Amino acid sequence: MRLLLSLLSFLTIHHIFGAQIPPGQLTQITSDTYATSKGPKFHLYVPRNLSKHPALVVAIHYCTGTGPAYFKNSPYGKLAEQYGFIAIYPTSPHNGTCWDLSSRKTLTHNGGSDSGDIVGMVKWLLGRYSEVDQKRVYMVGTSSGAMMVNVLAGAYPDLFAAGIAYSGVPAGCFVSQQDLVNAWNSTCAQGKAVTSPKEWATVVSSMNPGYQGPRPKMLIYHGSKDAAISPQNYEETTKQWSGVFGYDYGNGIKNAESDKYVSTTWGPNLMGMLAKDGTHDLKQLGNFDMAWFGLSAIPT
Ligand SMILES: *[C@@H]1O[C@H](CO)[C@@H](O)[C@H](O)[C@H]1NC(C)=O
Ligand SMILES: *[C@@H]1O[C@H](CO)[C@@H](O)[C@H](O)[C@H]1NC(C)=O
Ligand SMILES: *[C@@H]1O[C@H](CO)[C@@H](O)[C@H](O)[C@H]1NC(C)=O
Repeated sequence: MRLLLSLLSFLTIHHIFGAQIPPGQLTQITSDTYATSKGPKFHLYVPRNLSKHPALVVAIHYCTGTGPAYFKNSPYGKLAEQYGFIAIYPTSPHNGTCWDLSSRKTLTHNGGSDSGDIVGMVKWLLGRYSEVDQKRVYMVGTSSGAMMVNVLAGAYPDLFAAGIAYSGVPAGCFVSQQDLVNAWNSTCAQGKAVTSPKEWATVVSSMNPGYQGPRPKMLIYHGSKDAAISPQNYEETTKQWSGVFGYDYGNGIKNAESDKYVSTTWGPNLMGMLAKDGTHDLKQLGNFDMAWFGLSAIPT
């Protein structure tokens, strides 16, 4: 029986990752293989150098981007080869390819819309490839994708071990009072949504009421000269996760300063990196991010 089971699991792995998903090649998962075919498309990158029990990284693009564009314009594909993890690259289904960060559905645990669809992709993979380490599911995103990372951390805290947001806003900040899908919120973008850690934490708990379990550790990047998404959102986002983790926002510890970043640690689960004179278009610090995910030692 055990032999049969392990033979079956070998065949499944071979079927998914041998025949259908060529290693080392970004591959679109089509409706034939992906159950919720109405949701956003996504691409999968399985490295040639796949770990035995790989981690999973969901990499989420900016407005106007696509999964393949983010694969090309970020370091995570190369890092997947180096560290042996699998990467999912979703593509937004909306015109302009921003993510839905505004509807009640997307801001609610198991509510559906884009956050629910991305979770569907993760569960699809975990369900079909049991070798993936379910305790090491990570996410990273830029701009609209960073906003989605914060939303996913709020609405699906049980699924992710860590999140990294480049140039985003707090979870729920882009809310639409009229419950519009994929709405722009200029109050938030301009940094005029300013409130306390406690209030921001309430926004997070409203996304998944009653949840008491572990939450992803969060690394927040922003450029101090970001003209598209106000750097005030760096303060608001780090306030939000300070509130959620019960850290004293006013007493963050400044880390050794580099010429490019002012970095602050509020507790083991929250770090901020404010790029000095950084614009909206921040270059990802791939090696540092691997350390945040626990895939490598802190680079020196
Ligand atoms: C393959 O993975 C191993 C273990 O994670 C790593 O040490 C090695 O550098 C990787 N090889 C390449 C070519 O990236
Ligand atoms: C997206 O753009 C296309 C072409 O401009 C238009 O036909 C379609 O109605 C738009 N869809 C939405 C949801 O706005
Ligand atoms: C935009 O976001 C702010 C802060 O989250 C919220 O108070 C406001 O109602 C939102 N605007 C609209 C038009 O829904």
